[in-house]
Amino acid sequence: MNCDVLNKFKELYATTPAFYATSPGRVDLMGSHTDYNHGFVVTMPVNLEIECAFSANDSGTIQLYSCNLNTHVTLDAKTGLKTSGDDWGKYASAVARVLIDEGYKLTGFNGSFCSSIPIGSGLSSSAALEATLMAILAKTSGFELDKLPMALMSQRAENKYVGVNCGILDQYSVIFGEQHKVIKLDCRELTHKQVSWPKELMVAICNTNKPRQLHGSEYDDRRRLCEEAVEVFTKIDSSIEKLRDVSIEFFHQHKAKLSAASAKRAQFIIEENDRTHELEEALTKGDVAKLKEIFHRSYTGARDLFEISNDAMEHMYTAMSTATGVAASRQAGAGFGGCMVSLIYKDQLEAFKKDVFNTYKKLTGIECEIYGVKTAMGTHIEAV
Ligand code: GLA
Repeated sequence: MNCDVLNKFKELYATTPAFYATSPGRVDLMGSHTDYNHGFVVTMPVNLEIECAFSANDSGTIQLYSCNLNTHVTLDAKTGLKTSGDDWGKYASAVARVLIDEGYKLTGFNGSFCSSIPIGSGLSSSAALEATLMAILAKTSGFELDKLPMALMSQRAENKYVGVNCGILDQYSVIFGEQHKVIKLDCRELTHKQVSWPKELMVAICNTNKPRQLHGSEYDDRRRLCEEAVEVFTKIDSSIEKLRDVSIEFFHQHKAKLSAASAKRAQFIIEENDRTHELEEALTKGDVAKLKEIFHRSYTGARDLFEISNDAMEHMYTAMSTATGVAASRQAGAGFGGCMVSLIYKDQLEAFKKDVFNTYKKLTGIECEIYGVKTAMGTHIEAV
């Protein structure tokens, strides 16, 4: 943690906090946009984290402070509505309102937050914030939440009150994260299993430092075109409910019935979903040549079929895939800028970082950030 939430809490509220809550960010290793198509994602909770020092208060207000942004937010615990403060308060309000909708009675708390998850760059900073807040509200208001309802309610907070029509990937990953585990999430069954990991490899996240230009409309457009394809396919085979149910053979047989745009989006999702299975197998075998090839197909599909890449990402892909120590590289998160991800040889992290930084700077003039990451535990609370 790069700032001291404990001291900040003491300074702000003139007392020692009772607890710390922590949530990891996440990076997806395969399965872009497959979540809302009920497919699979190979995902990894990472040790870039949000931490919050907190204590219950009896004022009926939720008082929050962000050490990163140096701003305060206040909410009414009874209604969950923001009474003052910065825009990020909308996440807190969304979480509180969903809990209130579910019949929970909330009491107030004081909290100071600090995050090492770069904000808005595709590593689930908002899902981590929502999950942290939900865990804190349960703790301070005296109720227990299981992980799955917590993930579903966090997703609902984002969908209904923040207004982002996301799938379950982010919330599930940050809540269910376990140390030393990369998981394959089944977004229909809402279950996961651990995938094996080749000992010599680690994950490096490369931040293009081009803020994600994710306008809700671009994400929603892609969702709509996936749904459009399902509407056509379901008339041919009524067992098809989502693109997860469509095989690539079926797709090629019937793709002429789709609009050109819908066909491109659907092809990417069907192939990307198949790649999650291929990745699981290649990781199990430790087949590095195969990993490289699968990641490459994922990136070119994201660029040419799903069209979620941009100039910064294209340059970053060049920088990552030519750097010392790289095994495989692709996009991460929703795309449209933000972070990308590489599998690299553990003993080459420093050389990889240097090469990516220099090449990307030469190509774009932008100084990027590179994080060598480890798996991390999902949302949890500890006594101070
Ligand atoms: C964002 C959304 C997720 C998922 C990814 C793309 O992170 O919040 O639900 O759709 O994009 O895989």
